[in-house]
Amino acid sequence: MNSSPLLAINGGHPVTQSPVIIHKPHLDDTDFEYVQTALKSTFVSGDGPECRIFEQKLAQYLGVKHALFVNSATSALELAFRVKNFPKDSEVIVPNFTYTSSALGALYNDLNIKLVDVNPENGSLDVEKLEQAINPKTVAIVAVDYGGIPAEMNQIMGLANKHGLYVVHDTAQSIGSDYYGKKTGTQGHVSTFSFHGTKNLTTGEGGAVVTNDDQIAERIKILREKGTDKYSFLTDNQTRGYYEYVDIGMSYVQSNVLGALGIPQLAKLDKLNARRKQIAEYYLSELAGIKGLDFLKITEGSAHNWHLFGILVPAEHKYWILDALRAEGIMSNVHYTPLHRNKYYQNLGTDADFPGSMHFFNRLLRLPIYPSLTDDEMQNVVEAVKKIFKK
Ligand SMILES: Cc1ncc(COP(=O)(O)O)c(C=O)c1O
Repeated sequence: MNSSPLLAINGGHPVTQSPVIIHKPHLDDTDFEYVQTALKSTFVSGDGPECRIFEQKLAQYLGVKHALFVNSATSALELAFRVKNFPKDSEVIVPNFTYTSSALGALYNDLNIKLVDVNPENGSLDVEKLEQAINPKTVAIVAVDYGGIPAEMNQIMGLANKHGLYVVHDTAQSIGSDYYGKKTGTQGHVSTFSFHGTKNLTTGEGGAVVTNDDQIAERIKILREKGTDKYSFLTDNQTRGYYEYVDIGMSYVQSNVLGALGIPQLAKLDKLNARRKQIAEYYLSELAGIKGLDFLKITEGSAHNWHLFGILVPAEHKYWILDALRAEGIMSNVHYTPLHRNKYYQNLGTDADFPGSMHFFNRLLRLPIYPSLTDDEMQNVVEAVKKIFKK
């Protein structure tokens, strides 16, 4: 093994003295102007005119009938199940490698979770194991686009149709990704986006429920607004501001100020995603061929929004590589701990039940990727990885 240059973790000089952080939202003057205008209008409460404009533009961008802005993807997932009134104790299939919110929507609605293993090459629901997990109690599948890579939705929808199941597509990370020429968010019965500060499009906190189903959309408008039929308040001249309490509900609407932020964020999304793609292509070409380093498999027929850039490294050295990258000034990070390894989900299986998930988790590290990452910074990332892998 080549012993020079000395790694920073062993006392050598780091690749950079200015740490390259793992993610950063892109916020510019247009965003500030839209927010300021909304604030000055004094319409700061939920579901205001800017929220409605953002929803219309989002629906148009995605190519769906309804996009409903809510305060998080977690709320969106809760609503996606609340609308269905599935019998208690029904079972919902959730991939084992995901964020807790993918399961919370069903759990809040008194449904049981059945965890299913993922593909060790990209963390996506393993469709073969999915079919084996379907049983008479199964009512729904949650499909997750890990890191922005679309799940295998054709196969998942095929199985769902065969068995009469409802599909909630957790597209929290995949805004702007395509699947066979259509945006993610158009494949499942309901899709749920996140606009959290880490996402490709941000409203600080926020999310959207997206669907082509008119009935689901109408009920969600009520459920997100405390069970009232207030949606018509802004649009219906007949009711003159009168509205009723027609259902049980929650307060999941978003402030008009955040709706205003969504509009310029959406307008520049494709441009920002193009910059992410440039960075990803640079990493892919510069890091190709390094022994022991693999890239995540991109689902057939899809175009990735490069929300995350993952690398798969030798499991036995993962945490050392993470520390070594950080010592070089590159704030790499791990990601989700498989659900069954968390206290709340510990009764849902063991490592042996999820070999794909464990393999993926044990090898996965993330490299910085975001539109404002400079050329110098991305070169530093590559230099640090090569230095550590002695390439
Ligand atoms: C796959 C997935 N689903 C849901 C969520 C929850 O998103 P939010 O923070 O908007 O509730 C996240 C959060 O990052 C996520 O990664």
